[in-house]
Amino acid sequence: MKKDVVLTPWEVSGEMDYERLIKDFGTSQISEKIYKRMEKCHPLIRRQLYFSHRDFDKWLAAHDAGKKVSVITGRGPSEKMHIGHLVPFLVAKSLQDVFNCDVFIPISDDEKFYVKENLSFEDSVKFGKDNILDLIALGFKPGKTFIFQDFVYTDIYKYAAKIAKKMTYSTAKAAFGLKPENNVGWSFYPAMQAAHILFPQFYKGKHISVVPVGIDQDPFIRLTRDIATNKEINLEKPAALHSKFLPSLSGSAKMSSSDVGGQINLSDNEKEVEMKIKRYAFSGGKDTLEEHRKHGGNPDIDVSFQYLKFFFEPDDKKLKKIHDDYKSGKLLTSELKMILIEKINSFLKEHQKKRKLAEKQLGKFLLKNKV
Ligand code: TYM
Repeated sequence: MKKDVVLTPWEVSGEMDYERLIKDFGTSQISEKIYKRMEKCHPLIRRQLYFSHRDFDKWLAAHDAGKKVSVITGRGPSEKMHIGHLVPFLVAKSLQDVFNCDVFIPISDDEKFYVKENLSFEDSVKFGKDNILDLIALGFKPGKTFIFQDFVYTDIYKYAAKIAKKMTYSTAKAAFGLKPENNVGWSFYPAMQAAHILFPQFYKGKHISVVPVGIDQDPFIRLTRDIATNKEINLEKPAALHSKFLPSLSGSAKMSSSDVGGQINLSDNEKEVEMKIKRYAFSGGKDTLEEHRKHGGNPDIDVSFQYLKFFFEPDDKKLKKIHDDYKSGKLLTSELKMILIEKINSFLKEHQKKRKLAEKQLGKFLLKNKV
């Protein structure tokens, strides 16, 4: 990794070298064959924000052999959600639609309570409940989707304990760079996330699950795979699909809530979206109108184009036209931004409507403690 790059589940900055990460983490590049197979899934896959995997070929083979497969991916609720947080969940939903499988969604309010100095216990639970509504609003299938929050669904603790007994402190320290001043919650939490990742098997019996996540979450997957096949745990190693990061509006490595003006929140109104895109979205256009008309813009570094590509323009022909017009100078930055503003606002209008309806559907998705 380059010197100024930081990549942990709790901190991401600097310019990522994703090819290098595949080598360093020992994962596999997603092959053309897998991309082809996934054409009906969300454009985030076929347009290759997803770039790496572990054993996803085995997950596909198990599905093709008629065996049970599932998807599990989670959210750490320390605030309201932004569109970057949707990257794994949109893929989870499309895997559910295409492969008709169960999806499990753990909400790690405990994780955020431990790692965020100023987050109170009550607020971590509150943000968990808030975020669950955004997730249900994405359209997961009731009866095939199981959502739980660690501080509420306390049945999860017994699975975390079984895993904690098999995970040494030095393994967690090495995987996450734990520091002496971190509270002990940080060192226990990896056992909890491993319990999440293996939960589909604890709950529904041994089978292969896939975890779509940002590459920052891979250390959890590595540790879980090592423990899954331990004699006393006796489960299948989970597969993984890793995404690159959706950049912040300003173009920095990862859309993140700490980047002021850097993110589009799912709760933003039309005016906020318009202001943020106009003011902050990094442009690949030229400095003057004349130069832009003459030399064209660079869609590969233009954040508005990247958002259209990965989220908001699923039609390949329309996306190509926007790409080509921008590159030739026919389409101006201000016009490109207007296309994006309209797309985001129509997505958010629908999303916010569905989020209201989700309040009445909670009972269909939330797991309840047995005791
Ligand atoms: P969290 O809540 O920080 O983020 C949720 C998921 O979103 C991904 N993500 C992004 N992906 C692409 N571009 C971005 N800008 C971006 N920002 C966030 C993250 O990589 C993550 O996949 N510990 C986890 C939650 C968790 C979990 C799990 C994940 C709990 N249990 C089990 C997977 C499996 C977290 O804090 O994610």
